Amino acid sequence: MDAATRRRVLLLLLVVASSVPAGLCLTNAQDASALRAVMSQWSNYPSTWTTSGDPCDGSWDGIQCSNLGRITSLRISSLSVQGTLSSSVGQLSELIFLDLSFNTGLSGPLPTSLGNLVKLTTLIVAGCSFSGGIPKELGNLQKLSFLALNSNKFTGTIPPQIGLLSALLWLDLADNLLTGSVPISDGKTGGTPGLDMLTNTEHFHFNKNQLSGSLTGLFNSNMSLIHILFDSNQFEGPIPPEIGSIVKLKVLRLDRNRLAGPVPNMTNLVNLNELHLANNKLTGSLPNLSSMNVLNVVDLSNNTFSPSVAPNWFTTLTNLTSVSISNGRLIGEVPAGLFALPQLQEVVLSNNQHNGTLEMSGSISTKLQSVDLRTNSILNINVNPDYKKELVLVGNPACQDEVLKKGAYCNIQPRNVVTYRTSMNRCASANSCPSNQNQNPTTCGCAYAYSGKMVFRAPLFKDLTDNDAFQELETSLSKDSNLRVSAVYLNDVHFNNDSYLQVQLDLFPPSGTSFNKSQVSFIGNLFSNQIYKPPSKFGPYFFIGDKYLPFLASGGKNSKFSTGAIAGIAAGGGVLVIALILVGLFALRQKRRNRKLKVQANPFASWGTMQKDSGGAPQLKGARFFSFEELKSCTENFSDSYEIGSGGYGKVYKGTLVDGIRVAIKRAQSGSMQGAPEFKNEIELLSRVHHRNLVSLIGFCFEQGEQMLVYEFVAGGTLRENLVVRGSYLDWKKRLRITLGSARGLAYLHELADPPIIHRDIKSTNILLDENLKAKVADFGLSKLLADTEKGHVSTQVKGTLGYLDPEYYMTQQLSEKSDVYSFGVVMLEMVSGRQPIEKGKYIVREVRQVLDPADREYYGLRAIVDPAIRDAARTAGFRRYVQLAMQCVDESAASRPAMGTVVKEVEAMLLNEPDGDGTNSAGSSATEFVGAGRGPPSHPYSDVEITGSTYAGGEGASDYMPYFEVKPK
Ligand SMILES: *[C@@H]1O[C@H](CO)[C@@H](O)[C@H](O)[C@H]1NC(C)=O
Ligand SMILES: *[C@@H]1O[C@H](CO)[C@@H](O)[C@H](O)[C@H]1NC(C)=O
Ligand SMILES: *[C@@H]1O[C@H](CO)[C@@H](O)[C@H](O)[C@H]1NC(C)=O
Repeated sequence: MDAATRRRVLLLLLVVASSVPAGLCLTNAQDASALRAVMSQWSNYPSTWTTSGDPCDGSWDGIQCSNLGRITSLRISSLSVQGTLSSSVGQLSELIFLDLSFNTGLSGPLPTSLGNLVKLTTLIVAGCSFSGGIPKELGNLQKLSFLALNSNKFTGTIPPQIGLLSALLWLDLADNLLTGSVPISDGKTGGTPGLDMLTNTEHFHFNKNQLSGSLTGLFNSNMSLIHILFDSNQFEGPIPPEIGSIVKLKVLRLDRNRLAGPVPNMTNLVNLNELHLANNKLTGSLPNLSSMNVLNVVDLSNNTFSPSVAPNWFTTLTNLTSVSISNGRLIGEVPAGLFALPQLQEVVLSNNQHNGTLEMSGSISTKLQSVDLRTNSILNINVNPDYKKELVLVGNPACQDEVLKKGAYCNIQPRNVVTYRTSMNRCASANSCPSNQNQNPTTCGCAYAYSGKMVFRAPLFKDLTDNDAFQELETSLSKDSNLRVSAVYLNDVHFNNDSYLQVQLDLFPPSGTSFNKSQVSFIGNLFSNQIYKPPSKFGPYFFIGDKYLPFLASGGKNSKFSTGAIAGIAAGGGVLVIALILVGLFALRQKRRNRKLKVQANPFASWGTMQKDSGGAPQLKGARFFSFEELKSCTENFSDSYEIGSGGYGKVYKGTLVDGIRVAIKRAQSGSMQGAPEFKNEIELLSRVHHRNLVSLIGFCFEQGEQMLVYEFVAGGTLRENLVVRGSYLDWKKRLRITLGSARGLAYLHELADPPIIHRDIKSTNILLDENLKAKVADFGLSKLLADTEKGHVSTQVKGTLGYLDPEYYMTQQLSEKSDVYSFGVVMLEMVSGRQPIEKGKYIVREVRQVLDPADREYYGLRAIVDPAIRDAARTAGFRRYVQLAMQCVDESAASRPAMGTVVKEVEAMLLNEPDGDGTNSAGSSATEFVGAGRGPPSHPYSDVEITGSTYAGGEGASDYMPYFEVKPK
């Protein structure tokens, strides 16, 4: 770097530094709070992760951020982190890489909120202890290209929605407890998806599960698969002939299943290196593999093929290293040409009916290690005396010969094969390293090696004494510039019970006696994400990192509780116990806490210190805890000038958090406080609801006897205010858009929230508008969860606001979503008239009903009622449709009112038919623009929903906290 460049860089740094206002967090507040909620469920996370620090300041191991302070990468492979994955992870909406691999202490289910991380390209949880089903919501991750869920304890079936991951290249579900059949689409557009739709995917690794059913329909010639690993399952039925059309295929493992019928024509699989069909129930003749010129390994053992002589390809496929057809009903002589194949290492033809003479006298592959011909009908042998490796003839008539009988071929001998291990020759003497440390084969010093097993599921060779192959692997590992290790020690090389080649790796740190956490998780990720590529003859691999001892030793400074404590908690079994411990730990940490702490996300704060009945800490989706001090300081001690509204429950203040985010704070006054369990239910409910047309909860405060809810600040005021103040500015089309937005928010609550939520207080003062007039439904303070009892009717005390109240609900006290629809109809009539629902003693619904006149082609009979600001629009057909819809919504009978989803569709259609300013029909673009740039046309009423988690643990009981949100007129 020359002086000039350096100056420029310095200048740039200064500019960057000065553009960040002092004292501001680098990290986006939502991300910071979500990460802290994730941390709150983990122990033994990296010590660089602190409760007061800033995740994007560059010092946090495993975290990377965008320039805008959004967390884009979370990679903590192999760090012995323990705990469960909080659903708050779903709030890290800019996340691109998520790698939690090789943390066996991570357990519990994968949260469905992972489906919110639509920017994810890489999701890896390999080698953890996650259980439960694979969330179907993963099907939302349209950018996902790498999905590794292997070596966990996942149960249940593969969700069909995985078939929607059109960008997927790598799909590894291996080594779990998955059951059922592989989902196959019904072929209809918009119908049931299936894995046959994954035409870009190159890797299907499903081996070692309990999958069953037929594979028919799963494969087609559009697929790009190069590895199909389906071994060790319970698949049945035929091998689908379409497999023979996937010409890129290199490895096909269907062994250890229950597949039946003949092997289909595989003539086109000219790139295949490995073919494993062993241990099935295949019938018909042995497959003809003569076109597979690059085939290295073939295993057809233990099927029920028709008797046949040795196939021609035994002598023509010059790259064969291993041929296994045990129990294959082969007859006739073993062709002599087989042993001459130049790469041949292993032949297993046991349990056949080969007869005649075994001819091994001509040229024999110099690489041949083992020939197993036990239990055949061979009468004579003619073996080249130079061949000194294994030949097993036990169980053949030839062994009745007096000389052979005593020889090596006719007696099973313990094989004394010295399998490969890295040489320690360089080091003069066996070093006595401290316990748990190992000797570095290159430097001969002692260090804590990071180790793990590397498992090759389809190596192209069989010879474990092949020094060249393993040295190539060793060199590739120690010289890989990414890995940055000083040396590699390979040992315990063997074929495991699944007939995979397993190698134990010890990797040594480049300096010192141990790796730090960032180095280990980096290396773990290189393996888990397949960034490290072994020499090609090793084929597809997976890696499972062992626990790294230095991270366990003494529990680490940041370990919140020891394994012993966790065991104790588990034994104690009480949620309360856990909560109390967490509260205790939190209190301890509070003491040490930096006073300048800006973001405090611990949702357990002061939970449980209140009453005995407060139960466990709330389950929050991203909402964060605010200290009383924090809220006090951002409202100047709740001064009047910050007050924006008030009601029976207390007051609403505006405020600006330290990170610049504007919020609305609802502070309950003492008389309207609710019990801790009700407050907890309330915030749990509110934190679960996320939609662009709903005002979202940012957090809460529950300490020093205060109950406050912190909402996003919506700058444009209420719809009511806008109708009054900006009447003529709100032209007809703007009103349609506001109607659509609020209808969408409400439809979400009714139809997509789980369990559904009834708002119970829809009115024009509860619909807020932002600067762009986007409508946001506010205040679920009265909301009721639609309990699944009584078919959607919730019997309850009547709540709501006069003028908006559903008369049927009022009389029967049976609450349903249709009560909200009624209130929404009243809001629509407010849009039409500009009037309040009850003005000068007149009720808008009754008035409109009385004057409505379908014969009036001008104003539909509403000339006297219509808001003068929209008088021109009131002469259009669109206006009539709107009034008709509003009147359906306020129908006396709840059953006759439309559902909110229908209202959404209707209003969308109205917008589509609205001419835009210059008279052309631009409906499509106007509606789309409203939905948000870059999204598809609004063909679906929920095209802009965010999917939220679907397991609500809290019971009945959204409370009557804070009746409603009224903005004080200025
Ligand atoms: C197998 O398929 C190839 C190419 O599609 C074709 O030429 C050949 O005749 C088929 N063999 C049999 C036995 O059907
Ligand atoms: C064939 O089946 C037998 C008996 O179940 C088993 O011992 C043998 O390992 C199998 N052979 C292969 C190559 O899988
Ligand atoms: C067989 O393998 C050798 C290397 O092992 C390779 O160079 C050659 O191209 C292969 N043969 C064919 C037909 O691909």
